[in-house]
Amino acid sequence: RQPIVIAPSILSADFARLGADAQKALDAGADWLHFDVMDNHYVPNLSIGPQVCKALRDYGISAPIDVHLMVTPVDRIVPDFAAAGATRISFHPEASAHVDRTLQLIRSHGCMTGLVLNPATPLQWLDWTLHQLDLVLLMSVNPGFGGQAFIPATLDKLRVVRARIDSSGRDVRLEVDGGINHDTIGAAAGAGADTFVAGSAVFGKPDYRAVIGDLRARAAA
Ligand code: DX5
Ligand code: ZN
Repeated sequence: RQPIVIAPSILSADFARLGADAQKALDAGADWLHFDVMDNHYVPNLSIGPQVCKALRDYGISAPIDVHLMVTPVDRIVPDFAAAGATRISFHPEASAHVDRTLQLIRSHGCMTGLVLNPATPLQWLDWTLHQLDLVLLMSVNPGFGGQAFIPATLDKLRVVRARIDSSGRDVRLEVDGGINHDTIGAAAGAGADTFVAGSAVFGKPDYRAVIGDLRARAAA
């Protein structure tokens, strides 16, 4: 199993001081930054785009930036995020007209690929894509907002995807996003997740180092 990754979602960061707040989370032990892109179309909320990703790079953020696209169409924005410094680009298959094409597009721009499955989205999307994926992201809330409660059925889904990844023999991360906190991370790790997005559990809390250390310890237990 790969080392655990903790990826704070900057959706819950202080947008008026975004660079400093993001760097603070990294200095406190975060591995990646999770970057939620919402278009008020695929999801009922609006957030940030490639300009903000580039601004974080220009500010000096060197950690991996894990871009989670909640937009449709997908393809038009992929080159912009690659140019803005994205490390990984993940998208929802039902938001892309041609999933294979989008995966090839992400790779051709030098980024790693991820497919994101909502709570009610079937795992069949992995049937003809897993060989092109660097990451599978299972949503443990319905996308659009931070601070929602973890949906427990995600645990069974994680176990199924874990087995599929293991039997593929490929190096694919299994990420979980939504409602991850000190109460839920242990069960998600036990079900096979190795990469954990946490927004409201980290940002705005008085001691980022304590929270991230606690999350990592509970995920490793
Ligand atoms: C939801 C986003 C999540 C969100 C997680 O659509 O994809 O990344 O920021 O927030 P928390 O950790 O607060 O559930
Ligand atoms: Zn996300």
